[in-house]
Amino acid sequence: MRVAVLSDVHGNSPALDAVLEDLAGRQVDALVCLGDHVSGPMDPAGAATRLMALDGLMIAGNHDRWVLDLSLPGAGAGDRFAREQLDDAQIDWLAGLVGTGWLGDEIFLCHGTPSDDETPWLDNFYEKRTTTLPSEAEVARQAVGIGAAVVLCGHTHIPRTLRLSDGRLIVNPGSVGMQLVRGSPDAHYGIVEKRRNGWQTELIAVPYDTEKAAWLAEENGFPHWREAIRFGWAGP
Ligand SMILES: [Fe+2]
Repeated sequence: MRVAVLSDVHGNSPALDAVLEDLAGRQVDALVCLGDHVSGPMDPAGAATRLMALDGLMIAGNHDRWVLDLSLPGAGAGDRFAREQLDDAQIDWLAGLVGTGWLGDEIFLCHGTPSDDETPWLDNFYEKRTTTLPSEAEVARQAVGIGAAVVLCGHTHIPRTLRLSDGRLIVNPGSVGMQLVRGSPDAHYGIVEKRRNGWQTELIAVPYDTEKAAWLAEENGFPHWREAIRFGWAGP
């Protein structure tokens, strides 16, 4: 069993195209996408079209909630831009997504943590260009009661794989379309595979046409996104 794990596309269709092209060269049995699908200034409608055409299990992230209801605290300009770009069918698709899910009886999907789509899990949230690591106890506390061999999460945009002391695997594949810290502008995704010794993780970084994505953001009125798109460093 091999599962492609995508998250945080954030409306970046050039990055999503590169990931899907890379994925076409690898055999997988299923695909999941962990939310924050469209929010962002690149190409929300194009990203939605591509995701809707995929045979995959998808859940909603905090930005998907905000795109659907711009009056919620936290909703911002990227959410508003996405909302303006989406057609009725794309809004309906987004509205039909739920916040958590199961793939079979071994893999649990969430966006932030199992109980909250705004809480960062495997990394504490970044300030400018840095992050800090939570303790083992903090990580484990969020997994209490989740009877899955594999727990998939996104939200922080930072790829990481770890194993709890009880053997459960937690994987954040990073972000397909919005790189914020640590200087890796490539499109990130992951593959988890059940092998003889247990579940194995592969974290993948795919180069893509960042100039096109930066140009799209600028054209759409978000020139301040250029640096993060081009270089993978957020900040002043
Ligand atoms: Fe996100």
